[in-house]
Order: sequence, then C-alpha cells, then structure tokens
Amino acid sequence: MVQIGSEKNGVDMVTNDYVAKPPVLPGIDETSVVVIAGGSGAIGSHCAAALSKMGARVAITGRSQVRVKECVQSVSYGGEVFGLVADVSSSVQVDTAVNSVADKWGRIDALVNLAAIGDSGRHLEEVEDSEIAAVLNTNLVGAMYLARACAVVMKQHTKGSIVNVSSIGGHRVTPHRITYGPAKAALEHLSRQLSVDLGRYGIRVNTISPGQTPSNLRRFNESPGLPPITSDPEGNPTPTRRIPLSRRGKFEDYVGAILFLLSDLASYVTGVNIWVDGGASVVR
Ligand SMILES: NC(=O)c1ccc[n+]([C@@H]2O[C@H](COP(=O)([O-])OP(=O)(O)OC[C@H]3O[C@@H](n4cnc5c(N)ncnc54)[C@H](OP(=O)(O)O)[C@@H]3O)[C@@H](O)[C@H]2O)c1
Repeated sequence: MVQIGSEKNGVDMVTNDYVAKPPVLPGIDETSVVVIAGGSGAIGSHCAAALSKMGARVAITGRSQVRVKECVQSVSYGGEVFGLVADVSSSVQVDTAVNSVADKWGRIDALVNLAAIGDSGRHLEEVEDSEIAAVLNTNLVGAMYLARACAVVMKQHTKGSIVNVSSIGGHRVTPHRITYGPAKAALEHLSRQLSVDLGRYGIRVNTISPGQTPSNLRRFNESPGLPPITSDPEGNPTPTRRIPLSRRGKFEDYVGAILFLLSDLASYVTGVNIWVDGGASVVR
C-alpha cells in the first residue's frame, strides 16, 4: 500500500468557489475525516480541495500513484490531505486503505465514492467478459467494498455519511453503454439499500447524479494516470440546448450537493438521489 502525505500546500491549485469562499457547514470542520475514493479525479479533486479548505482531514484514493501524488499536493489547503494508491475492485486493497485512514486519524466521518471507469461502448455481442467484470467490479462492487469497510469504523461513533456518485447515465440510456449505465443505476439502488441497513447506526447513504462534464474518465482497458481536467469546460462544443440552465456543469457544480449531504444540514436525509445536471433530467 503506497501512502502519500502532503508535502507542500497549494501547488497547481485546484481552485473553485468553495476554496475562494469556503462555506461554514455544521458537521464539517477540522475534526472531520473524509475518505474520497476517486479523489484524484476531476470532481473528486474539487471536492477534496473544498473540504481541505474547510479544515477537514481528507484521504484521497486512486489507482495511479502519480495522479494521487499530484492531487495531494494540489488540493491541500489547510486540512491535512493523505493519498492512498488503491484499486476499489480489490476488497483487500480497500480494507487496507480504509484501515490505514482509521489508524492515522482514529475515525471516519464520511465517504464520497467517485471511483469509476467507462465502458467501451461496444455492441452487446462484442462485449467481452473482462469488460463486464472490470466495469461492474469498479463502479458497483467497489462501492460495496468501500461502504462495508467504512461502515465498520463509522459505527463506532454511531454517525456517518456516505455519498455515492452515480450519473445521468444511470437513468437515461445512451446506445451501447452496456455496463456503465446499468452499473450506475445499481449503484443508486445500493445507496437506497444501505440507507435502510445502516440507518440504525446513524449512517446516512445518498447518491448524486451529475450531468455530463468532459473529464479524463478512463474507459475499460485504458491505463490510469492522466491528470484530471480542472479547467472550466465552458468551451466544449457539445450542444447544451437540452440543458435548461444552458451550460455544461463545472466540476465545482457537483461539490455543493456533496458537501450538503456530508454536513449536518442533511442530518435527516438518507436514501435520496440528488440530480446535479442543470435540469437535463427533466427535459423530455
Ligand atoms: N464528469 C462527468 O461528466 C460525470 C458525469 C456523470 C457521472 N460522473 C461520475 O463522477 C465520478 C467522477 O468522475 P470524473 O469526471 O471526476 O472522472 P475522473 O477524473 O476519471 O475520476 C475518476 C476517479 O476514479 C479513480 N478510479 C478509476 N478506477 C478506479 C479503481 N478501479 N480503483 C480506484 N480508483 C479508481 C480515478 O483514478 P485512477 O484512474 O488513477 O484510478 C479517478 O481518481 C465518476 O463516478 C463518474 O462516473 C462524472
């Protein structure tokens, strides 16, 4: 298990409105410990930067050591940031990573799960067993491993918040996305299932479903490691006419809903999905 600590603050900074003007939210402060699986990615790094600026201690994970290291350095704004190289499709690696966070900081208050890969977009008859296994094991089974490992620690304090990041692709069908969309749909149902099973321990489980913002989401068989796109994607030529807010989301647009669900403002919110898509999901 490779562990990476913050060596310097604010290099190649991931900046967003939450870093410029960090909100004060009940339940998120310097005592908080947040695990962000896929925290080295585009949305995850924006979330990590905001939480660090709010003083929370943040553990980010990903498969690429280079990418985790770069992100640890770029999202450290005060609250300590700790990097862990781990593949969520391995229960051994997930257990080791989560236990190392609990050993280091003595608690885990929240889990944000963004770890995911895309599918190849091949037609059904061409999809190989290895692709089905890889996408489901990363996007769905990994969420089970992460929740299981974190819930053990959260139960000790009878409090916790888990946010799984699904997708508009879990609700709306894009042709030939055989595994990505179904895995995301199942992820949302997993959140509902866990909200029932973990509620008695004070652990809330919710989902957000982002719209589409171009990032470096890796596809099946692509190697990990590309740095996340952190710039404003306003210039993207993809049409936005079907988005009521008339623009694609920025990565920081997804952070607010996550922070709300992590905070005590959402202390009676569990088992829900929040669309963060500029209204795209309601358009016929
Ligand atoms: N961007 C969008 O438009 C959009 C829309 C809807 C939903 N989403 C969802 O939002 C989440 C974040 O997406 P993003 O756009 O920020 O993509 P991203 O930049 O590629 O982030 C994905 C993260 O997951 C990690 N990851 C991938 N496979 C992993 C594995 N097996 N084990 C551990 N970590 C793994 C990646 O690091 P490594 O590659 O180094 O492992 C990276 O940190 C994903 O769940 C995605 O499905 C995104």
